[in-house]
Amino acid sequence: MAAVTFDIVRLDPMELDLDTADRMAAIDRASLDAAGLDLPAPVGPTKLTSLQLGSDSRPVDGLWLAREGDLLLGHLAVELPWRDNTDTAHLRGTVDPSARRGGVGSALVARAVAMARESGRSKIYAGAFEGSDGVPALRALGFSSEGLGVNAVRRLDLHAAPDGIWDRLYDEAGGPAGGYELVHVVGPTPEDLLDDMVTLHAAINDAPLDDPEQEEDVWDTDRVRDYDRAMAGRRQTVYRVLARQRDTGDWAGISMLCVDEFAPAVAFQEDTSVVRAHRGHRLGLLMKADMLRWISHERPEVSATDTWNATTNHHMIAVNERLGATVIARHVSFRLRD
Ligand SMILES: CC(C)(COP(=O)(O)OP(=O)(O)OC[C@H]1O[C@@H](n2cnc3c(N)ncnc32)[C@H](O)[C@@H]1OP(=O)(O)O)[C@@H](O)C(=O)NCCC(=O)NCCS
Repeated sequence: MAAVTFDIVRLDPMELDLDTADRMAAIDRASLDAAGLDLPAPVGPTKLTSLQLGSDSRPVDGLWLAREGDLLLGHLAVELPWRDNTDTAHLRGTVDPSARRGGVGSALVARAVAMARESGRSKIYAGAFEGSDGVPALRALGFSSEGLGVNAVRRLDLHAAPDGIWDRLYDEAGGPAGGYELVHVVGPTPEDLLDDMVTLHAAINDAPLDDPEQEEDVWDTDRVRDYDRAMAGRRQTVYRVLARQRDTGDWAGISMLCVDEFAPAVAFQEDTSVVRAHRGHRLGLLMKADMLRWISHERPEVSATDTWNATTNHHMIAVNERLGATVIARHVSFRLRD
């Protein structure tokens, strides 16, 4: 395209207003459409609150906007993990399809990389959907996907699911007669469950990682509280199905689904993990089938769920395929090479 004249401004995410967030969200929508991806883009309020609250009640560490006069051309945010992986930075941004190939992306990435390096971060990650401009652009900007993972995004169409399917799959996985009982929690974790929730959240550390150099997530009660507060502030209703072994009372697994109350049509499947000692008892299928029975009943306006899995995560993928989920996109991880 013809040269774009633009300026880049850094913004305190807490100063972001809804009008700008709406325009950022519109760019994200246009970007997915340009790549032919049928994925949910955030609406303005989702964008605003996710930049301000993240997943631990803290704003993103850096936010830049590219503008041509009053026109917003692109945006980029940087997160600097602080509980673990403190040598890492994550970049996430989009340039409006009509303003691409004019240097906007390079300028945004350059600011973000400089800030990440000044903050002492040596591992700088980004990602892009296969088939989108992001893949060649990240390569051109010095990022590489070598040795890193690909995530497949799978969708389950709840409204097209055959009647009674979730009950049948729940029974197939052991149902009420099995050795595990299921407990439902909606919204923030009750205080008396916090310690157990730490154990259950930490079980995700057994899942295959995008990068073998990545450290495990550190979970403690503060992190669970911060996560729950962030989700409540972002108007994401968190549905958790917890599995407990009947004989011992031991917590064995967790599956989580988030419904964005600003845009509830497509719910987002968060972690599903089974504690190592309880693997091999079909708990993944049991918890997920139960979640789908629950959600279909409680939230009939949720028409689909999307779930991201590393393509190496065979056990989880087998469960999702048994439920009837199909791949709708693939997301490639990239890391900046020195
Ligand atoms: C990644 C993205 C932000 C780049 O924005 P941009 O403004 O087009 O970036 P630039 O104009 O600075 O392009 C940098 C270089 O990338 C390469 N490039 C970009 N898009 C390309 C494409 N579709 N095909 C081949 N090369 C491409 C080119 O080498 C380009 O330089 P050139 O135009 O001078 O040849 C934009 O493609 C985008 O929004 N993609 C979707 C979101 C995404 O994947 N983000 C990942 C980054 S966090």
